[in-house]
Amino acid sequence: MSTRQILVTSALPYANGDIHLGHLVEYLQTDIWVRFQKLRGHDCLYLCASDAHGTPIMLRAEQAGLTPEALIEQVGARHRQDFAEFLVEFDNFHSTHSPENREIVERIYAALDAGGHIARRRIRQAYDETRGMFLPDRFVRGTCPKCGAADQYGDSCEVCGATYAPTDLIDPRSVLSGTTPSVRESEHLFFKLADFGDMLRGWIDQGHLHPAVTAKLGEWFDAGLQDWDISRDAPYFGFSIPGEPDKFFYVWLDAPVGYIASFLDLARRRGDLDFDTYWAPDSPVELYHFIGKDIVYFHALFWPAVLAGSGFRTPDGIFAHGFLTVNGQKMSKSRGTFITARSYLDHLDPEYLRYYYAAKLGPGVDDIDLNLDDFVARVNADLVGKVVNIASRCAGFIHRLAEGRLAAALHAPELQEDFQAAAESIASAYERREFSRAMREIMQLADRANQYIDQHKPWVLAREGQTTEAVAVSTQGLNLFRLLMIFLKPVLPGVAQASETLLQVPPLGWTDLSTPLLDREIQPFSPLLSRIEPARVEALVEAAKTAAAAAANPDATSG
Ligand code: MSP
Ligand code: ZN
Repeated sequence: MSTRQILVTSALPYANGDIHLGHLVEYLQTDIWVRFQKLRGHDCLYLCASDAHGTPIMLRAEQAGLTPEALIEQVGARHRQDFAEFLVEFDNFHSTHSPENREIVERIYAALDAGGHIARRRIRQAYDETRGMFLPDRFVRGTCPKCGAADQYGDSCEVCGATYAPTDLIDPRSVLSGTTPSVRESEHLFFKLADFGDMLRGWIDQGHLHPAVTAKLGEWFDAGLQDWDISRDAPYFGFSIPGEPDKFFYVWLDAPVGYIASFLDLARRRGDLDFDTYWAPDSPVELYHFIGKDIVYFHALFWPAVLAGSGFRTPDGIFAHGFLTVNGQKMSKSRGTFITARSYLDHLDPEYLRYYYAAKLGPGVDDIDLNLDDFVARVNADLVGKVVNIASRCAGFIHRLAEGRLAAALHAPELQEDFQAAAESIASAYERREFSRAMREIMQLADRANQYIDQHKPWVLAREGQTTEAVAVSTQGLNLFRLLMIFLKPVLPGVAQASETLLQVPPLGWTDLSTPLLDREIQPFSPLLSRIEPARVEALVEAAKTAAAAAANPDATSG
């Protein structure tokens, strides 16, 4: 197995709201995949950043009486802390509001302009005269011009599904001031996406995308590739466009560039990462972006086209996942299922959720459901009842009967070999992001380990004075447990670490599968993971309800 060089990203979270369990589907999925690659000895970097620009962040800061810089600083720090406690281990977490990002965005824009891929056009837009600003589509509401439904967004109607321009709305109102917007004209800069139609078709045909995503892109191709408006008028929180007074880059132009900026920041601090090795068109490094299904358009159309048009390499994969539902429904503040990362951490162990998501995740864009009853049952049955239980059943006998020293030989070498033989299939499941299959296969092995122990009953052997036999069986049990922990380490890094302490071994890697642990001392057993008390989950839901009632502020977190 030769060492691969891999660069992985998760989408950059907006720096104006808290991380919630929905976001975590993505960060946990990515972290598990990255940890798997590292466990296998590959050279893998996991990069992320705050997505710091745009109108919603500007307005949120104003509301909070902060500068946008202060807001994104505060929120970014909270995000880092939440991720760290969920054991999401970035190699770098940077910000799109950074000198590195400005540098790369300007370089990209200059290259696109020089290549003739930027067009200029005057457009008419809703304008709030009292606030002195153009209004993004979502900041205009009014009556749907198609079906007459009241109070609809400026870009689409939630009742009849029609899409239109805010200027088409009947009796439009500014969400900011309640006044009727005027219509003003201004010049905008456009990225000529259609210049990259052939390039994109070729890129998609190389099989970089899940079939469901490819199908979606097909629809967009059929509808025709439109010019993309990449400029915004002042006031705006973003980077000003060189040579264009009072114009700013649209947040979605500089957001994915944040992936490169995060790399650049890390490379400048580390000194052993060569920029062109990672980003030049002939780069040997594999590049993968994990994202949610809602932002496929930006990542699978605009982003590869922008990269290709400005002399950078393109991604090798866009891995889109579905959305989280809780108890079968959209997360809801009033039902107490809109749960922030912080609130979860106040009540429950992060590794429960890491395992539950892993047990549910596949490679496609299907939504995944967190059923809270199933969550408790599954974690308790699998992690506590099957996996950790093996160690607690066996470690005690090693201490009581053999002064903490493992036997010198395996008692069931063929069983050990069966476990080792499962490695290939488990690895391929992780590699293809078929985490639910990986978890299923690992739990089947855990069942076999427990059957082995049940069959040989070390507690009976100990009682009957068959000490050597009892120690041999317990040693075998602990060796099976050790192999399971290697398989589970990407998902349960904390339990794996505690197991390494128990077994007194250095950090386990995939290559350790081939060697047994024999004739050496282990630590006394201390609990690796406790059962979920259903009352803790109830308390979490109550806390989420209370928090929702207290924060009488229903703003969306995106935009
Ligand atoms: N800032 C943009 C991404 C820019 S990437 C260059 C953004 N931010 S976000 O904070 O709204 O979302 C971050 C990621 O979390 C996105 O990939 C999004 O799809 C994902 N999720 C947000 N809510 C989610 C659920 N409820 N369920 C699953 N994933 C969700 O989009
Ligand atoms: Zn309508």
